[in-house]
Amino acid sequence: MSSLATEICAPLAVLGRDVQVPLVNGEKVGYAALDYAASSPALQRVWDDVAAYAPYYGSVHRGAGYLSQLSTDLFEQSRRTVAEFLDLREGDQVVFTRATTDSLNLLAGAVPAGTRVFAFETEHHASLLPWAHAGLDVHYLRAPRSRAEAVAALDAALAGAPEGPKLLCVTGASNVTGELWPVAELTETAHRHGARVVLDAAQLAPHHRVSVRALDVDWIAFSGHKLYAPFGAGVLAGRADWLDAAEPYLAGGGATRTVARETDGSVAVQWHTGPARHEAGSPNVIGAYAIASACRALTEAGFDALEARERQLVDRLTAGLAEIPEVRVLNLFGATGDIHSVARVGVLSFVVRGWNSSHFSAALSAEYGIGVRDGLFCAHPLVRTLLGDEDAAPSECGAPEPSLPGERSLNAIRVSFGAGTPDEHVDRFLTAVRELVTDGAAWNYRNEGGRCVATVQIDRGRREG
Ligand SMILES: Cc1ncc(COP(=O)(O)O)c(C=O)c1O
Repeated sequence: MSSLATEICAPLAVLGRDVQVPLVNGEKVGYAALDYAASSPALQRVWDDVAAYAPYYGSVHRGAGYLSQLSTDLFEQSRRTVAEFLDLREGDQVVFTRATTDSLNLLAGAVPAGTRVFAFETEHHASLLPWAHAGLDVHYLRAPRSRAEAVAALDAALAGAPEGPKLLCVTGASNVTGELWPVAELTETAHRHGARVVLDAAQLAPHHRVSVRALDVDWIAFSGHKLYAPFGAGVLAGRADWLDAAEPYLAGGGATRTVARETDGSVAVQWHTGPARHEAGSPNVIGAYAIASACRALTEAGFDALEARERQLVDRLTAGLAEIPEVRVLNLFGATGDIHSVARVGVLSFVVRGWNSSHFSAALSAEYGIGVRDGLFCAHPLVRTLLGDEDAAPSECGAPEPSLPGERSLNAIRVSFGAGTPDEHVDRFLTAVRELVTDGAAWNYRNEGGRCVATVQIDRGRREG
C-alpha cells in the first residue's frame, strides 16, 4: 500500500534560507519566512538561471545584434514555457504583465462595453476592483459559506441576468483563508449561462498544478513574485478574441504595426494583434525568463510531490493550532466544521483571543524571528465578514484605524508557506504561538508610526510575583 503513496519531496532550495535576523534580545536566529502569500522567496534555481543569462542580456524585439536576437528568442521561449505550464489551448495567448493586478486591469480594459461582470465580495481587491474602475457594470455576489453555495449563488445570479456578454472573475485559492474555490464547477455554471471566466491564480499557481484546458477557464492571471520569480513580471493568458479586439493596454512602441503621418496632420496607427498588442514598451525579459525558470523548476520537482509535502505542513499547522483554544482559524467554507476538512493551500489566517493581531505578529518577529503578515490582506470585505464584531482588536498596537464612522478596528494574522518551507519553520511558529498565548510577550510593544515595536523587556518575575 505504502508504495502507492505519493512521494513527498524535500523543500526546494530558495534564497534567504540561511539569512540570520536579529531578535529584540540581541540574539540572532535564522529567518522563518512565513509570508509566501505576499511574496515568496526566489527559488535558487530561478536566481541561478537569471544570473547565467544576465551577461547575455539585450533588447527584445528591437535589435539586430547577437545578444538582442538571443534575448528575443529567450523571451518568446519563456512565453511557450508558460503556455505549457498552464496547459493552454490552441490559440490561447500569453501576455507578460507586471503582476496579477496588472493582468486583471488589462483584461478589464479589454472586456467589450456592456459586459456585466460577476465577482464574489470575498475576492482580493485586485479581482474585485478593476471592473468598476474600467466602467463596467459589476454584480457583487455575497460571501458564500460553502462551495456548493458559491455555485448555487452564481447560477441564480446568471439566470436572472439580462442578455449580453458576461464575465465571472473568481479566485482559485483565497489569499486570506487559503481555501480552494470550486473553479471547475463555477466555470461549468458560467459557461452554461454564456458567461466567460477569468481565474485569479495568484495563490493557486504557486501551490497546485493548474490546467486551463481542464478547468476550462477563459483567462488566467498570476504573479511571478508569488511563484518564486521576483523580477517584476506577471502573466495574463487565455482567449485571444477579446484581447485582439480591444484597444491596446498601453500605447507605444512594440504594440504598433505601422504609424503614419496623414495628410491632415493626424497620425494613423495600425496595432498588432497577439500578445504584442498589450505589451507596449521594452519587455521585461528577465522577469519573463524568471517566471519560465520557476515553471520549469516546479514542473521538474513534480506537483504531486510538492502538493503532498504542502498537505503535510498544512496538517501539522492546523493540528497544532487546533490544540490552542485561544486561536480561531478563519474559514469561509465549513466555518462550523473541523478545520481538517477544509481543502486549502499553505495559507491560513487566524486571530488570538485577547490579542491585537499586530501586537501578536510583532512579537512573532521580534522574539522568534518569524515573518508573518497582519492586517486585512487587501480583501477587506472578506476579512470583515470572517471576523465579525466579536474579534474587535482589544488594544491599539498597530491596528488599522476604522475606516467608517462606527466601524470597529479589526485585523487578523496570516501565516503562509510553500515549496521552500522547512518543517522547522512551522514547528517554530507553533511553539511561538503556544508560548505567546501561555506566557504572554516577553517585551512591551507600542505603536510607532503605525508599526508595533518592542520597547522594554517585561520583568516576568515581578509580573508573576
Ligand atoms: C488572490 C490574489 N489576487 C491578486 C493579488 C494581487 O497580486 P499582485 O500584488 O502580485 O498584483 C494577490 C496578492 O496578494 C492575491 O493574493
